[in-house]
Amino acid sequence: MRTLVTGAAGFVGTHLSTRLRSEGHEVTGLDSFTDYYDVMLKRKNAERLTVAGVQMIEGDLNVVDLDAVLDGIDVVFHLAGQPGVRSSWGTEFSAYTYNNISATQRLLEASRGRQSLRRLVYASSSSVYGNAERYPTSETARPQPLSPYGVTKLSAEHLCCLYAASFDVPTVSLRYFTVYGPGQRPDMAFTRFAKAAANGGEIVIYGSGEQVRDFTYVSDVVEANLLAAAGEVDPGSVLNVAGGSHVSVNEVIRIFEEVSGSSLSVKHVDAIAGDVRQTGGDTSAIRSTLGWEATVTLREGIANQFRWAQGLAKSL
Ligand code: NAD
Ligand code: UGA
Repeated sequence: MRTLVTGAAGFVGTHLSTRLRSEGHEVTGLDSFTDYYDVMLKRKNAERLTVAGVQMIEGDLNVVDLDAVLDGIDVVFHLAGQPGVRSSWGTEFSAYTYNNISATQRLLEASRGRQSLRRLVYASSSSVYGNAERYPTSETARPQPLSPYGVTKLSAEHLCCLYAASFDVPTVSLRYFTVYGPGQRPDMAFTRFAKAAANGGEIVIYGSGEQVRDFTYVSDVVEANLLAAAGEVDPGSVLNVAGGSHVSVNEVIRIFEEVSGSSLSVKHVDAIAGDVRQTGGDTSAIRSTLGWEATVTLREGIANQFRWAQGLAKSL
């Protein structure tokens, strides 16, 4: 396949691009190297990807010549975006509308009528559900985001459905549930917990720590992307990608303590607006349409991320 990975220098994009190259696919990686977190981490990812044979382009989806970038591409994996649930309030919101909504709309416009394009896989998010009506939550549940971030991810997902319905752009939106593993973003819980378990230091828990997440290991998310690219699925489809671990943040900390053999120093602060009480995805739709199932257990995944934080495993 000739593939384009947007957001290739980010956490999930790096894993996906590496896997695509290891299977012999052509990969163009596009990234604007936003400064949401340490840009050096993205530069290092990009250097590694270049060595692996990815053709990296530094560019903003809102600005680059997309006709040139998309020329001859069979599959687009659209991961570029502004992530982070808790930081999407206030003046930061403009980065979310720009990188999540406008960038996606521009990519979809440029994808219209492209003969070579077989699939555009969009990285949507469990945050579209907010505090859901029921758990596990299926794709048909009413979306009711609790954060401005979730609103922008839902907006972009709706745009994918619109461009599929009106212009036959072959989109599939995958709703990832909290992705973790080596190379995870530094603002996310597991990277912070793993680094504290490896190097010491205090961790901060937002609220009681009883909030529950359906954590998903990054290689399982990569697999879902590959299946969505190749499988039979209706344009405009939306599918959950959820790891199946319904555990609280407090339980996660206990697992990090067991795996590392050290006890973590924990400080509780107030809960942050936008943080949902619980996520939990029903994965029957992706299982029946694409044959996808999560394969990495939470304990195994946490052990991998801990080894990475110790510097004993390379980031991928
Ligand atoms: P990340 O921040 O590590 O990667 C996103 C990359 O996109 C960054 O390298 C950034 O520089 C790039 N980017 C942002 N705006 C761009 C633009 N306008 N043009 C080109 N590049 C741009 O984030 P991640 O954790 O790897 O997440 C990847 C995608 O998956 C995001 O869209 C995110 O919303 C979605 N997602 C992530 C999770 C998760 O748990 N990590 C869960 C659900 C959905
Ligand atoms: C994650 C990603 O950051 C979003 O980009 C993504 O869209 C979302 O998953 C999703 O599933 O859609 P989140 O679930 O908040 O969001 O992931 P983490 O940052 O790993 O946080 C997990 C939980 O740990 C949250 O309840 C958070 O409040 C808590 N946490 C996080 C802490 O208590 N302390 C921290 O230092 C970090």
